[in-house]
Amino acid sequence: MEYQNNIDFARAQDQADELGSFRDRFLFPKKADGSNKVYFTGNSLGLQPKGSLDSLKVELDDWAKYGVDGHFEARNPWFSYHERFREPLAKIVGAKPLEVAAMGSLTANLHFLMVSFFNPKGKKCKILCEAKAFPSDQYALETQLKHYGLDPKENLIEVAPREGEYHLREEDIMDQIKANKDELALIMIGGVNYYSGQLMPMEAIAKLAQELDITVGFDLAHAAGNVELKLHDWGVDFAAWCSYKYLNSGPGSVAGIFVHEKHSQNAELDRFAGWWGVPAEDRFMMQPGYKPAEGADAWQLSNAPVLAMAVHKLALDIHNEAGMDRLLKKQKQLWGYTTYVLEEIAKENSGVQFEVITPESHGAQISLLLHGEGKELFNRISEKGVVVDWREPNVIRLAPTPLYNSFEDVYEFGKLISESLSN
Ligand SMILES: Cc1ncc(COP(=O)(O)O)c(C=O)c1O
Repeated sequence: MEYQNNIDFARAQDQADELGSFRDRFLFPKKADGSNKVYFTGNSLGLQPKGSLDSLKVELDDWAKYGVDGHFEARNPWFSYHERFREPLAKIVGAKPLEVAAMGSLTANLHFLMVSFFNPKGKKCKILCEAKAFPSDQYALETQLKHYGLDPKENLIEVAPREGEYHLREEDIMDQIKANKDELALIMIGGVNYYSGQLMPMEAIAKLAQELDITVGFDLAHAAGNVELKLHDWGVDFAAWCSYKYLNSGPGSVAGIFVHEKHSQNAELDRFAGWWGVPAEDRFMMQPGYKPAEGADAWQLSNAPVLAMAVHKLALDIHNEAGMDRLLKKQKQLWGYTTYVLEEIAKENSGVQFEVITPESHGAQISLLLHGEGKELFNRISEKGVVVDWREPNVIRLAPTPLYNSFEDVYEFGKLISESLSN
């Protein structure tokens, strides 16, 4: 596509955008003049879907009306509330409904899954991850190792970008896995890197892991709802994600897990269990002795957080209505347009050096390394109503999100950057 950095071009793209109407289904933070801010932070916290209050009100009203009997008498009975998520989540992560569960929170879920899937034995006791993983993942991996008396310095293998580069090369990940194959008990990598926006070669990693008999799990915080996932077909052992980024379900909302079908009948797996993880018919029998439910449900510990889930369901339905294929097509166009606009600005302002450090393989996020003006530029565009985020030492992360961002947003973003530079 031939891009142009002008408002008419941007508006024409919006006119032709088959997902354009989805923008009206979200609530945008406003500038002082009442117009929408340029919200490019769906990689951090997705926007609130309109109708969230109504979805919440259904559950609040049923709670008021039925009290505890709402577990069975509510319009969406709370006893089986979690079952409503199997189909929509399965579509988003490329799984069978049996392989997913909406539950808990991301870091806690990663720990629970590692109880089952990180089993260090003898010299096969190491974990491989990406260097500079999101801190919560680093802490989770570090403390899992310590829990088994293993020194993270020796047992955590971090694959780093080469000198002067910002993202990982696929061959380097593969070489490290092969070089450590006899010692690796687990590969645990972020599907999309939170800092660079790099989409990791998950399929290739999972394939190699299976060939070498190494367990593989992914943190999909930045991947779920953002990139194509085929967790079942790829043979991934487990995965976990949050729902507040590209899944627009609200701050700290209920997260999700995937456990491959190949583990669904394995009652021998270690777990930290709770009463919601037993078969539905046994849940209120109050009998001793944990017996796992089939599939990912067995990892559930507690009864469903219905209020958080009310918004999650609405948000997933909107996402699925838009559909991953259409979202990916628009994501590509928005990405191309944004990087084009940035290049144009750099050309017009000699001395300004932006560098997109996100590689060709990516989701919605663009990580922009600022060589010249740094935090001051970020502060100036923030004051003008652009919502992006800053990561030390000098990176702006922005995510033109296909579900609700427009080409006009991108044009406006570029205009505000230009104005802020000339200040
Ligand atoms: C890649 C990644 N992992 C883990 C987390 C932590 O998530 P939570 O606080 O929901 O456990 C985040 C949060 O943004 C993240 O981006």
